[in-house]
Amino acid sequence: MDKTQTDLNWSGPAISVIGLGDGLSTGLSAASIGKLEQAEFIVGSSHQVEKAKRASAGLTTLTAEIIDYPSPFSGLEQWLVDHRGRKIVLLASGDPLFFGIGGWLSKRLPAHAIEYSPNVSSVQAAFSRIGLPWQHAVTVSLHGRPLESLRCYLKQGALLACLTDVNSSPCAIAKELSTSGYDQSTLWVCEDLGGESEAITQYQVRDLIQGNDPLSVHPLHVTLIACRGGVNRLPDFPGIPDKLFATGKTSGQGLITKREVRLAVLSWLAPANGEVFWDIGAGCGSVAIEWCRWAPLGQAFAIECHPERIEFLEQNRNSFGVVHNLQVLADRAPECLGNLPDPDSVFIGGSGGSLTAILQDSWARLNPGGKIVIAVVTETSKSELLQAVNRLSAKTEDSGRPRIETIQLSIAKGDDLAGHLILRPQLPVLVMKLEKT
Ligand SMILES: C[S@@+](CC[C@H](N)C(=O)[O-])C[C@H]1O[C@@H](n2cnc3c(N)ncnc32)[C@H](O)[C@@H]1O
Repeated sequence: MDKTQTDLNWSGPAISVIGLGDGLSTGLSAASIGKLEQAEFIVGSSHQVEKAKRASAGLTTLTAEIIDYPSPFSGLEQWLVDHRGRKIVLLASGDPLFFGIGGWLSKRLPAHAIEYSPNVSSVQAAFSRIGLPWQHAVTVSLHGRPLESLRCYLKQGALLACLTDVNSSPCAIAKELSTSGYDQSTLWVCEDLGGESEAITQYQVRDLIQGNDPLSVHPLHVTLIACRGGVNRLPDFPGIPDKLFATGKTSGQGLITKREVRLAVLSWLAPANGEVFWDIGAGCGSVAIEWCRWAPLGQAFAIECHPERIEFLEQNRNSFGVVHNLQVLADRAPECLGNLPDPDSVFIGGSGGSLTAILQDSWARLNPGGKIVIAVVTETSKSELLQAVNRLSAKTEDSGRPRIETIQLSIAKGDDLAGHLILRPQLPVLVMKLEKT
């Protein structure tokens, strides 16, 4: 359950949330019609109310007071408080718990206070029109979100349903697919489903990116995508090649947590949806970006103080499409940590001589069960780390001491020397994990 739930102490009959079908059909069951007839208040847009009234001749004799959804919408909370215990119907479209009002309600009211009557959602209707099973499809809301956030969901063979706004037109989506190397994808634009001007049109990416004429589409539409990319598509498996990260003159070189080390670090961090992650000394952001791609519903903060690297960090954040769950902080740790939500995991890849303070502050803020992973290369930072950990352990009671695991990774990479394979050793990296039990 969401941490922000505020129990409105609902008493009396449960609020009835009734989803209406798409287009002209209302798809209301006899039970839903009964609820509408018995309601004291029906809340809905004029369009929704008209549609509900059409559901049955009986509804022309509705006795309920009809109320428009408040603007701003947040006013609904106070309205519900003021009408606690009354017989209320809230009108919605499709399935209210699928990208609908149910999300908002579930954060404010206990489950027993609401009774849902779902209808066919627009996404379900769209898949039924193209005749493809959709149990494994992923629905992506691009409403008010930068189009780049789509990149996070592009995987070879994936089936996506996009809920769009004016910035995510079918042509804009096709351009995005082409930029990300998913240029062989198929799109279906499903317009005005169930309405008089319903149209389902299939396109290939190239159909939509050729020419200057933007496609004119009905404002109510869903875009479905069957993702298919070529060799240069964005990777959809952990362990992003270093060279795909902008780091300066030569991509993937310089200050970056290299792929092999990054994979070990990430397996310890174990990214999970719903968690908060801090990447301290984020550099070009390789760790934070992979973390975000593995946990699209997590929240990551990348802290970096070097101006040029912040530029690369932002560039990489966009090119990998983790724009919705990665926040870049151009700041210094530990000073900036006070403004962040408590983390479930922390990676310290750079500390600029402040490791003791960063470690202490991060440990104090770490949620129970959380972990801090630190990677160091130089002998100076290794000894700084050991001292910082000793100090931390000395300050904590036996029962609260971190559970520590340490590895040293010595990677040697194949190279060519006068036609012979050689293994060129890289600097060993010491990686330590501190777990709060
Ligand atoms: C080795 S790099 C990190 C590499 C990074 N994990 C990656 O993959 O790009 C260390 C970074 O830490 C940053 N840094 C050092 N001390 C810092 C501090 N106190 N606050 C924020 N950033 C810091 C440096 O500017 C540098 O970019």
